[in-house]
Amino acid sequence: MSYDLIVIGTGPGGYVCAIRAAQLGLKVAVVEKRSTHGGTCLNVGCIPSKALLHASHSFAEAKHGFAEMGIEVSPSLDLPKMQAFKREGVKGNVDGVAYLLKKNKIDTVFGTGRIVKSGQVSVTDRNGETQTLEAKAIVIATGSDVTRLPNIEIDEKRIVSSTGALELPAVPRKLLVVGAGVIGLELGSVWKRLGSEVLVIEYLDRILPGMDREVAKAFQRILEKQGIAFRLQSKVAAVETGRSGVVAKVEPAAGGVAESIEADVVLVAVGRVPYIEGLGLAEAGVALDAKKRILVDGHFQTSTSGVFAIGDVIAGPMLAHKAEDEGIAVAEIIAGKAGHVNYDVIPNVIYTSPEVASVGKTEEELKSAGVAYNVGKFPFTANGRAKSIRATEGFVKILADATTDRVLGVHIIGPSAGELIAEAAVLMEFSGSAEDLARTCHAHPTFSEAVKEAALAVASRAIHL
Ligand code: NAI
Repeated sequence: MSYDLIVIGTGPGGYVCAIRAAQLGLKVAVVEKRSTHGGTCLNVGCIPSKALLHASHSFAEAKHGFAEMGIEVSPSLDLPKMQAFKREGVKGNVDGVAYLLKKNKIDTVFGTGRIVKSGQVSVTDRNGETQTLEAKAIVIATGSDVTRLPNIEIDEKRIVSSTGALELPAVPRKLLVVGAGVIGLELGSVWKRLGSEVLVIEYLDRILPGMDREVAKAFQRILEKQGIAFRLQSKVAAVETGRSGVVAKVEPAAGGVAESIEADVVLVAVGRVPYIEGLGLAEAGVALDAKKRILVDGHFQTSTSGVFAIGDVIAGPMLAHKAEDEGIAVAEIIAGKAGHVNYDVIPNVIYTSPEVASVGKTEEELKSAGVAYNVGKFPFTANGRAKSIRATEGFVKILADATTDRVLGVHIIGPSAGELIAEAAVLMEFSGSAEDLARTCHAHPTFSEAVKEAALAVASRAIHL
């Protein structure tokens, strides 16, 4: 068969790219190795983790939060049912993608794709049968895989990646998390709420590298109050698996005396690496950078003409929405239009309780770039809606250019931070100022008033402080 475009991988980057290309009139096929669409995000990442985060949060609220509102309950956990709730959410999402691909008349070929050369993709299915497809353009959207640590073999039972941590058949008595990044803190929160003792080992002297330091510090304190323990500047040198649990050798990051820590389960969450195995990149002449990511130019074009790449396999944050936007942009470029992604305005959300969200620059980034800025901060303790429901942890922090007042970064810890960040992203997309935000009427009583007040605070004129 011959197509205008073949997309390899149907995660958020790939399927969105295919749909946009079909909208623009291209004849499109997708190649997918799994038996369902949606990639890591829908099958074993964002979607199932959000289901468990929601369910475990509800459980914790019923246990600890309901009584103070006058609701007396004594909840008990049915973990298999909670897992079934999660699976149902995943199914709804992956079925939705299958429906959208069909609706847009996109051909689906299940199997492992390999680029034979520019314009040609071979697909080998589970039975070992291979077919060759032709296309004017090929987009690689194969995503990423778990980063593994030397000497620590992930068996997805006692030593798990995020995939195994979403599937645990019982609540571990003690969970050791390696890496205080997004996965470690989200999944650490899930199991803490369900009853695990959680210890997080982090190599650096802080949690969430890359996030505004003040926000990360405040967030660590909040998590500690929830009972999650941290061991910073430490690493796990080895893990021994016994019959009933594991023993991890934890030592200072700089080296030194190792300590043995017992746990039932170890979650390895130290990042992800581009997934490019079996794609035949070297043979097809597709070059990689020093971090083994596919090299692309400003138009997502690789070193092989007609072969493009998007999402986790190229540089940039490994986020589903970044991949989606790149998918749309590359489809538009292939169709002869002007696709573009604004990398300065990519929001980041951590779905813990409270949520953490940010967009744009951190204070540290502005300092090191020598940009003069003003800071406006507003705590949720002074927000009416938050006070009324006792969700007062956290704050909104806005960083604005000292000369032009243009908003350069927004950082939020607090209730619904992941939703609140969207207005900051829209503002920044339009190069808006703190004053623009401060003069926009916000409904009362909403959490979003804290965003407006932080914008007012940039000019030292917050009302409710
Ligand atoms: P991450 O890059 O967010 O964090 C990894 C952490 O592990 C870092 O703090 C790092 O310093 C630490 N680390 C590295 N090596 C270590 C070692 N040997 N010992 C101890 N600590 C070590 O990676 P994570 O959490 O695995 O997530 C992978 C990707 O998935 C990220 O790009 C993340 O953005 C994305 N993701 C996004 C989510 C969201 O948007 N809500 C949810 C989950 C994942």
